[in-house]
Amino acid sequence: MTAGDAINTRQIVLRPMDQSFVSTTWVGWLRDPEVVAFSRQRHREHTLESCAAYAASYEGTPSYLWAITLAGDGRHVGNIAADVDEHDGVANVAVMIGERECWGRGLASEAVRAVCDWLFDRRGLRKVEIGTMEANRAMVRVARKVGMVEDGRRREQVVRRGQPVDLVYFALFRGERGLR
Ligand SMILES: CC(C)(COP(=O)(O)OP(=O)(O)OC[C@H]1O[C@@H](n2cnc3c(N)ncnc32)[C@H](O)[C@@H]1OP(=O)(O)O)[C@@H](O)C(=O)NCCC(=O)NCCS
Repeated sequence: MTAGDAINTRQIVLRPMDQSFVSTTWVGWLRDPEVVAFSRQRHREHTLESCAAYAASYEGTPSYLWAITLAGDGRHVGNIAADVDEHDGVANVAVMIGERECWGRGLASEAVRAVCDWLFDRRGLRKVEIGTMEANRAMVRVARKVGMVEDGRRREQVVRRGQPVDLVYFALFRGERGLR
């Protein structure tokens, strides 16, 4: 990812990730069982070093990683990544609002919508997708709120709390935005 401009929306500013965002706060999100309940990160041990490595892993790639910060006080409250396949013009977006007291305020929806617009308009991509466990009702709701429609399902692909659960994919094409 090349350093770019921040993306501003009503409640948040998406700032291109750099090492200044690596903090014990971020590590704390990844150690919070509620935050990682639907994520593969629940299987990993996280440290400042692992967060630093994740941040660095996007440098020099066609993919993007932003810190989600509050428009008011600049507080870092989460991250959003877009893993880009340049050949197919497709990106897979993953979002985490790490500060649980910020859930339910529309921050993830704003971030996903802004990233979709940026990927379509500034990077010329054709399609943006999100994959999530179906049981992650908040994430499913975010995908639908930004206009995505179901785009595939991996039946019983992952095991959560001892139970096999479906992974569902949602997607939005560039030309579909007017419909949402
Ligand atoms: C999933 C997540 C990104 C949502 O972030 P958020 O900022 O709270 O999302 P928003 O406020 O934009 O929207 C959440 C929507 O889900 C709804 N919702 C929340 N919990 C829900 C539930 N259990 N069932 C149904 N809907 C639910 C909210 O009411 C809201 O919809 P509304 O605006 O129509 O009322 C956030 O909870 C998070 O980061 N979780 C941990 C990481 C994670 O799971 N990331 C996704 C990995 S695939």
